[in-house]
Amino acid sequence: MQFLLPGQGVSTHYMEVTQAEAGSESVRLRAAWKDDELPVRQRELVDKQLAAYRRGEAVDVFDVLVKSLRELQGGTGAMRVLEIGCSSGYYSEVFRIAGLDVIYTGCDYSDAFIAMAMQRHPGLQFDVQDATALKYADNAYDVVISGCCLLHIPEYQAAVAETARIASQYAIFHRTPVVLGQQNKYYRKQAYGVEAIEIHFNEPHFLQLLADSGLELLSTHTLDETVSQGVGNATRTYVCRRKAA
Ligand SMILES: C[S@@+](CC[C@H](N)C(=O)[O-])C[C@H]1O[C@@H](n2cnc3c(N)ncnc32)[C@H](O)[C@@H]1O
Repeated sequence: MQFLLPGQGVSTHYMEVTQAEAGSESVRLRAAWKDDELPVRQRELVDKQLAAYRRGEAVDVFDVLVKSLRELQGGTGAMRVLEIGCSSGYYSEVFRIAGLDVIYTGCDYSDAFIAMAMQRHPGLQFDVQDATALKYADNAYDVVISGCCLLHIPEYQAAVAETARIASQYAIFHRTPVVLGQQNKYYRKQAYGVEAIEIHFNEPHFLQLLADSGLELLSTHTLDETVSQGVGNATRTYVCRRKAA
């Protein structure tokens, strides 16, 4: 059965796909975010958010990630932070505005996004990398941020394992859509007008996946939540510590 949900912001035309369709659809749409048109469209919105943030206005998704990182800062010098799925690297600017003491690196599987990131943020390191097979060494970064990309990755278990492998201390799963009292849900949608897949994770299973990947949950930040009698959905940022081997 297919359900059309109302569009929200940059994401529109949500259409739930069945479990049977989910496999083939998510593979078909896996490369959607590599579309060359996306960076300019996304940056238009992001530049407005950054301008508001510079004026001191609250931007909830920025505030949550900054708060998450502040919780982890131990006062022992700059934290080396990698953002996976960094798009055009705008969180480097968010962290700079917020005054966080971090050394930022970004990676994304899209050549077009990384080209824009390098142009917008010269002097920072950006790499074209797929979240499921990263080229970085084990424990390469103090903090690894999975930047709202798992939901677009059919092999999300491999992406969680890679995030944990690269993180020497902490891993943050930013803006993760989860469902409660329901199995994983799969949607076809349009992201900035481009057809894409979106996975909403059964929360207990997602938390178990984090634990199985050697991560201990430290805190959870909820961006939105609608739950009635144990059934519903939410968007959360999960802050984890890498467990000792
Ligand atoms: C919704 S944007 C998130 C941007 C930013 N990190 C944020 O939190 O707002 C998702 C990003 O993940 C990237 N992405 C999707 N699949 C990926 C993959 N398999 N490996 C690396 N990046 C991926 C997309 O290119 C896109 O830039």
